[in-house]
Amino acid sequence: MFGSLQSLLKETRADLVIANGENASEGLGITPEAAEGLFKSGIDLITSGNHIWQRREIIPLLEKDKRILRPENYPTGVPGSGVSLITKKEIPIAVINLQGRVNMYSIRCPFRVGEALLRQLGKKTRVIVVDFHAELPEEKEALGLYLDGKISALVGTHTHVQTADEKILPRGTAYITDTGMTGPAGGVIGMKRDISINRSLMQIPYKMEVEDSAAVVMGVLLTIAVDSGKALSIERIRRELPDLKP
Ligand SMILES: [Fe+2]
Repeated sequence: MFGSLQSLLKETRADLVIANGENASEGLGITPEAAEGLFKSGIDLITSGNHIWQRREIIPLLEKDKRILRPENYPTGVPGSGVSLITKKEIPIAVINLQGRVNMYSIRCPFRVGEALLRQLGKKTRVIVVDFHAELPEEKEALGLYLDGKISALVGTHTHVQTADEKILPRGTAYITDTGMTGPAGGVIGMKRDISINRSLMQIPYKMEVEDSAAVVMGVLLTIAVDSGKALSIERIRRELPDLKP
């Protein structure tokens, strides 16, 4: 998987690579070793979401490594941070991780938390990318339009299913409801078919397991004007890797 990622990075010539890694360890949570593997593969920054707490051993890394984020709108005092300012080619780039509330935890308002952050970050850079980890398309579209013109891009994550609605919003923010996942192409959202079907049939939360099938890489390629912070393009990436198992 990592070799393929490196060839994709070479091909796209991406200056900054962001991956949501909340399920990088057997489909649930992320261990420090898995985070290290992602960094070594060429990923600059890892965002996350509700599953970040599944592997508690990641907490010390969340507290000390600014390259791994948890959603910023968790309650005050939760380990880690949801904001990172990194510099690439002498350009400061802010990455914000927020989480939705519909069908998810009742945490602080992502709209208000996001807006407050922008008041601080706006003085430091115009290039700002938001990973909005949320379930409901309505909530994602609403936040995209709420922040339109104030951020460079809002990229949705969490559902594992890539949406075909990538666009530039009226005031210059790139948007996609969900960028999809990187993992097994088969099964149910990358997890074993039979277990997932039985969870629905029986209404019993059987432990999910990663499907044993060829891999697929999904994501988006953003082009952003450095001076204005506005998005110039957003291009969906979906690449089947038939010979590769995760
Ligand atoms: Fe999630």
